[in-house]
Amino acid sequence: MARAAKRYVCQNCGEVHHKWVGQCGACGQYNTITEEIHEAGPPKGLGQAKGNVVELVALKGPSAVTPRLVSGIAEFDRVVGGGLVEASATLIGGDPGIGKSTVLLQVVAALASRGATCVYVTGEEAVDQVRLRARRLGHADAKVSLAAATNVRDIVATLDVASAPKVVVIDSIQTMYVDTIESAPGTVSQVRSSAQELIRIAKKRGIALLLVGHVTKDGQIAGPRVLEHMVDTVLYFEGDRGHQFRILRGVKNRFGPTDEIGVFSMGDAGLREVPNPSALFLGEAKGDVSGAAVFAGIEGTRPMLLEIQALVAPAPPGSPRRAVVGWDSGRLAMVLAVLEARCGLALGGRDVYLNVAGGLRVAEPAADLAVAAALLSSLSDQPVPERTVAFGEIGLGGEVRPVAQPETRLKEAAKLGFARAYVPAGTKLKVAGMEIVEIGRLSDLVRRFDKG
Ligand code: TYD
Ligand code: MG
Repeated sequence: MARAAKRYVCQNCGEVHHKWVGQCGACGQYNTITEEIHEAGPPKGLGQAKGNVVELVALKGPSAVTPRLVSGIAEFDRVVGGGLVEASATLIGGDPGIGKSTVLLQVVAALASRGATCVYVTGEEAVDQVRLRARRLGHADAKVSLAAATNVRDIVATLDVASAPKVVVIDSIQTMYVDTIESAPGTVSQVRSSAQELIRIAKKRGIALLLVGHVTKDGQIAGPRVLEHMVDTVLYFEGDRGHQFRILRGVKNRFGPTDEIGVFSMGDAGLREVPNPSALFLGEAKGDVSGAAVFAGIEGTRPMLLEIQALVAPAPPGSPRRAVVGWDSGRLAMVLAVLEARCGLALGGRDVYLNVAGGLRVAEPAADLAVAAALLSSLSDQPVPERTVAFGEIGLGGEVRPVAQPETRLKEAAKLGFARAYVPAGTKLKVAGMEIVEIGRLSDLVRRFDKG
């Protein structure tokens, strides 16, 4: 007989604790532990029944090309690796209100217009609300079937048929529940079991399953983290609600490249694709403002120029503030430490603010040199020379290290009218119309802001 036992599960990372604790020891989050009922049955003895021998095949051999469901929304298709794959599960995570429902409704409407049968299951909104949104998006006539449902048993019964749809959206996985489990919807056990059941049907019936997962900071509901290993593809929809731009970022993909991004802008009629985003995040910086530097970055396969803004200000006594938007705060701390320890700058008594213009998040260490240029520019109150880009990773010794794809970065900058680039020493590239300044050590860059 199965015995129900209580256990304490972190809603952020899924770690199981034997008693309630305020902070999860595995992921370090506070107040994310929730009591859940767990069916603790005796393990079915593996050794008792003999298994079947698994057939082993050679690594070399034919492999079928996976057919793709192409939506025609290029920014979406590229991020998923050239279209959705049959019998696959894709998780789309993101903050509430960022536009996950909007983008998925647009994707299924586009897929339906190309003949794919699509089902949109909403657990958060009423059918009327989804219809209203579809009208606003100009897809009122799209051949998409809607359902408002949250019981996984019912959804499975609907989908587990010979004429199963090609594409199914579940919005959101945190509203779904399996009725054999006691915990509330949104807990780790419910989210996991619901996803497991839905994925099983997707694999069995060849459905491309799209699961929406909200990210919550306070851990009240289980985050998409607990699902990442169960699905084939993980996408995050990011952006700043105060800005119009939205980034769809691939972080895991069993059927294509990761680190690819799709750029959209949110308007009155939903999300619009931004096919040439490289100049989008440049901001409107005038040449004579101190504290701004342009980073020649790469997002996935595409070059992207971004404006990095820094403000270094005198701090009141006490510990100075370090505030970062759009970059890693640990990385900023490191660049500041190298500027202090290797270049002799006194930054300890100053507040430092860093911002990536336009609401994009930069993950590349290649941004180090542009960040350092923005910091030095603000500190010395001298603008970075006009029409200049920078890229390069900074090492703890104060050296500037080479980064991937320097030529792509430089060419894009030249195309957008930039005339000078600060690059790591040893880059040894020539690009027509560009003065290429090789920076071997961070102190070389510091010297450029010394005069005046
Ligand atoms: P939504 O897709 O509901 O977000 P999520 O599913 O991630 O929670 O998007 C909600 C926001 O998008 C909402 O604040 C309104 C805005 N929005 C527009 O600006 N234009 C539109 O055409 C639509 C449909 C939404
Ligand atoms: Mg939604």
